[in-house]
Amino acid sequence: MMQTDRVPTGIAGFDGLVEGGLPKGRSILITGEPGTGKTIFSLQFLFEGLLRGERGIYVAADEEPMDILEQAASLGWNLEEYVEKKEFAILNAGAYLSSVSGASKDRQIDIHKAIGDLARFGNQLEAKRLVLDPAGPFVLLRDTATRIQDQTRLLIKLLRTSMPTTNVLTSYAVPRTGEMTMHGVEEYLTAGVLVFKMLSKNGQLTRNLILEKMRCTDAKPVQHEFDIVKGKGIVLLENA
Ligand SMILES: Nc1ncnc2c1ncn2[C@@H]1O[C@H](COP(=O)(O)OP(=O)(O)OP(=O)(O)O)[C@@H](O)[C@H]1O
Ligand SMILES: [Mg+2]
Repeated sequence: MMQTDRVPTGIAGFDGLVEGGLPKGRSILITGEPGTGKTIFSLQFLFEGLLRGERGIYVAADEEPMDILEQAASLGWNLEEYVEKKEFAILNAGAYLSSVSGASKDRQIDIHKAIGDLARFGNQLEAKRLVLDPAGPFVLLRDTATRIQDQTRLLIKLLRTSMPTTNVLTSYAVPRTGEMTMHGVEEYLTAGVLVFKMLSKNGQLTRNLILEKMRCTDAKPVQHEFDIVKGKGIVLLENA
């Protein structure tokens, strides 16, 4: 019978919640407000891959490659070493998104071209793990909700068919106003959804991860508090 292969994240306490790791070859969405740990989760997932001999690509939209290396180093992860060995690459999303067609009012990203270019690079590198942090710029250009949904569906489909990677996509959480948002749209389309949230507990802000869904996985919809610890990254705390 068909079995879902697992891709461990290396995150203490997390892999056990999802039968050992993320479902191989799929796209998982992490959504959360600023500073909640989306980038650190993404980097940890990539670093764990490198330790296991799986090459990776991080596509940045908001941050410079140097800043990403510095963020990783602050947690004790020497990504630079893997860049030098050509086992890891940090790319700028902008390089893939210059292919925008149409007048400014009606602009649309050429996702076929963007993912085609990315897949060519990734397959040459033999990448097994990919992060788009955030994924929004690949689908969003002052678009209507329906078009964003179509674009997101296309993005996920193209990633699935043109690259063998397991993908982590991040997006900013927007308060649920009933208005169609990126967050709302993407949740339906990805194989898994993790929500990162700051919550107040005894007058203190705590970091929390909510496992909303994970296809092909016996995953309970749980909420876990977590810490970010130097040298370890994200560490889930035992639920009280
Ligand atoms: N070396 C470190 N040791 C401990 N905690 C750290 C370290 N580096 C960052 N942090 C914590 O992680 C937070 C940033 O997390 P991260 O960059 O993953 O958030 P994010 O969700 O990606 O935010 P954004 O939406 O702004 O990109 C910092 O505000 C800090 O609290
Ligand atoms: Mg970030």
